Amino acid sequence: MVKFSVKKPLTVFVAVLAVLVLGVVAYLKMTPDLLPNMDFPYVVIVTTDPGASPEAVESAVQSGGAKRYVLGSVLNQVLLHQSIIGLESKLAMEQLGEYPDVVVGCAGGGSNLGGLIAPFMADKLRGIRNPRIVAVEPASCPSLTRGKYAYDFCDTGRVTPLARMYTLGCGFIPSANHAGGLRYHGMSPILSKLYHDGYMEAVAYEQTRVFEAAVLFAKRETILPAPESAHAIRGAIDEALRCRESREAKTILFGLTGTGYFDMTAYENYLNGKMSDSIPTDADLQKGFDSLPKIPQNEGI
Ligand SMILES: Cc1ncc(COP(=O)(O)O)c(C=O)c1O
Repeated sequence: MVKFSVKKPLTVFVAVLAVLVLGVVAYLKMTPDLLPNMDFPYVVIVTTDPGASPEAVESAVQSGGAKRYVLGSVLNQVLLHQSIIGLESKLAMEQLGEYPDVVVGCAGGGSNLGGLIAPFMADKLRGIRNPRIVAVEPASCPSLTRGKYAYDFCDTGRVTPLARMYTLGCGFIPSANHAGGLRYHGMSPILSKLYHDGYMEAVAYEQTRVFEAAVLFAKRETILPAPESAHAIRGAIDEALRCRESREAKTILFGLTGTGYFDMTAYENYLNGKMSDSIPTDADLQKGFDSLPKIPQNEGI
């Protein structure tokens, strides 16, 4: 090799040059493969529970059975921890020397409302005080005001046990036009029973009226309410307006459940006049009622 290189320097020089040129050309033409075809071992688990929190379901699945997923609304046990809202409200009112004449809360599946009213409803049931309790729901998903008192699944995935409640049927899907939450087909069984027995009232509002109240509240209080909470605000404002008309002084307590910073598109649509109302027809509701479980207890409902 050494002898050959000494004898044929030109050949060696040309060979080295060729290797260098080809190397540079190959380097310049080489494209990085962003998605190389590699196989990774993986397992896919599909769970179908529409409306369930993906993070909570993931945590439950990954725990290998150590954790269980429970619904965050509608089911009765949720009202228990939510009752902290009512207990704190009652304490705050006591410190102000007040007791509410009217308690107003937004109603989706009923958890925040059930928690807010719990201590006041306890007083009402015991005959100690007699506050009016008002549930405010969207006209596009009117489970209390237009639903049936029937046995139904608490979730749209039909996984939960059946519960007797005001429901639009677990197959009911509110219009996509509806901007806020509160799109549950059924109302907490405890609240449903209280409503059924006349301890609680319910009112339904179109979303444009709700956003009107939300914008008014944001301007006056500098708190941007969640569209869901704005249902309670609409209810409280209307109660106050009635008081102004009847010249009565009343203490109104309402639940402000959240802020609306993730709902700016809905606010923008409202402010640009692009928001409309969608109220289900009786035929729309009937489709939902047709999805109620066909069991003897639901016959004739
Ligand atoms: C901010 C906020 N408040 C209230 C609710 C109503 O849920 P629930 O009736 O279960 O309290 C929701 C959910 O839709 C919400 O996102």
